[in-house]
Amino acid sequence: MNTMHTETTTERKKVIFSAIQPSGSVTLGNYLGALRNWVALQDDYDCIFALADLHTITVRQEPAKFRKNILEAYALLLACGIDPEKSPFFMQSHVSAHAELGWILDCYTQFGELSRMTQFKDKSQKHADNVNAGLFTYPSLMAADILLYQADLVPVGVDQKQHLELSRNIAERFNGIYSPTFTVPEGYIPKTGAKIMSLQDPTKKMSKSDENVNGCVYVLDTPDVIMRKFRRAVTDSDACIRYAEGKDGVNNLMGIYSCVTGKTYEEIEAEFEGKGYGDFKTAVGEAVIEHLKPIQERFHQYMSDKEYLAKCYNEGAEKAERIARKTLSKVMRKIGFVPRG
Ligand code: TRP
Repeated sequence: MNTMHTETTTERKKVIFSAIQPSGSVTLGNYLGALRNWVALQDDYDCIFALADLHTITVRQEPAKFRKNILEAYALLLACGIDPEKSPFFMQSHVSAHAELGWILDCYTQFGELSRMTQFKDKSQKHADNVNAGLFTYPSLMAADILLYQADLVPVGVDQKQHLELSRNIAERFNGIYSPTFTVPEGYIPKTGAKIMSLQDPTKKMSKSDENVNGCVYVLDTPDVIMRKFRRAVTDSDACIRYAEGKDGVNNLMGIYSCVTGKTYEEIEAEFEGKGYGDFKTAVGEAVIEHLKPIQERFHQYMSDKEYLAKCYNEGAEKAERIARKTLSKVMRKIGFVPRG
């Protein structure tokens, strides 16, 4: 048979899968560094997005707060521009194939491999009182997330690169033992990815675990709070708004300003020529407030319409489930399980 592509073959869009944990408030860093890129990918790829709520319980959660965090994260991602009509967007715990394939892949992942994961080592130090088995096997569940959808590309930050590499190894191993079953996923580094640093210690990534509350801006912070945090941002004694080595604080503010206004660094330098850091910080604060305003408005709308939210995540789970089940059945058949029915 001729396997050459003919002109009538419609080019399949590449599949992108990504997930984020609903573990508290979404930061400006999460938004500018990851979520905004997800939104931009929706037209060019077949995207599938999830809230990795199963991963979140590797750290103990207070039930009411956890439930609230999940719903808020879902609403916020919709508000950021994830379009559930274009991209199935669901909660991982609603599609049981994740847990099922997670278990199966545990059996194709070596203890030694998991022991080498730097995030496991970090987290087991940080949560020394709860080094549970889920924390250890977290990466094989993440592999299941990705491999269920035959994802070609996975947008991940540097902190998840090692986990993605392990997912590739697991996929290749399984394919090698049986026959090609899983697409071997690749990392996707967005062209406009921004790494947003702490406003208080710009050598560290902006993070909700920052000791200084002023270091981290949240997407749902009120305008006053946002402005206060930017006004207090750490800069330097050079008193000149330019992008240069050693000017971490100013570079970070320029990066944020550029992200939310679309201006280039040259344009920003020209705009603030002869001006002081006070003016600059206020301008960045204002631009961020302006940028987040419609997102915050949409968030509050969604949160006041729980029925709509439920409709979205239920439909998302249904769409995801159809794809996931197909892969899971294939996997189970190859392993030798007896099909039910
Ligand atoms: N582990 C990821 C994080 O904490 C979240 C995640 C879970 C994920 N499953 C995934 C990311 C699959 C990409 C693909 O950031």
